[in-house]
Amino acid sequence: MKNLGILLSGRGSNFEAIAANVNAGRIPGARIAVVISNKPDAGGIATAQKLGLPTQVIPSRGKSREEHDREIVAALRAHQVDLVCLAGYMRLLSPWFVQQYPHRILNIHPSLLPAFPGLEAQQQAFAYGVKVSGCTVHFVDEELDHGAIIVQKAVPVLDSDDEHSLALRILEQEHLAYSEAIRLVLDGSYQVVGRRLQKR
Ligand code: GRF
Repeated sequence: MKNLGILLSGRGSNFEAIAANVNAGRIPGARIAVVISNKPDAGGIATAQKLGLPTQVIPSRGKSREEHDREIVAALRAHQVDLVCLAGYMRLLSPWFVQQYPHRILNIHPSLLPAFPGLEAQQQAFAYGVKVSGCTVHFVDEELDHGAIIVQKAVPVLDSDDEHSLALRILEQEHLAYSEAIRLVLDGSYQVVGRRLQKR
């Protein structure tokens, strides 16, 4: 059994989709060991509690980035986490954190990277006028929204779209993409060569 550790800061719909897939046996060999938030009022924490999952809130206020990250990593280790899944976790990880879990930290971003990294990616894409956007699940490295890509899903931008409807359709694909990526990584039939995931 592989232990997933979820880090989130908000709503937690990606976490919820992962939890539903784990419960339905669609991510074989995985269980959610702990859900950690830097925000006490994160919706995802309430959801995790309802699902009976272990939760921990670790606020960052008054701590240096690495001090905070050391507390997070201590919690992940206490729950014997194998794979860290950032699911709307609104903090940059310190290089130290990234080095503790080489190719073992995943993030989801609501654009087709390398387009539109950073905040409000869906709005950035809409305002730019792209005809196709989507989402990306990637390994986390020391740069923002940058590591090797595991799964991408394309979403057409329709003439009838506004930022909100586009973001919603991207979110539907996020909910599929994250579990697909976790399955791939746990399955281990890929190795990372440079930025490329290659079949072994
Ligand atoms: C998602 O759009 C995800 O791609 C981004 O933050 C949002 C989190 O949403 N990183 P949720 O908390 O999973 O509902």
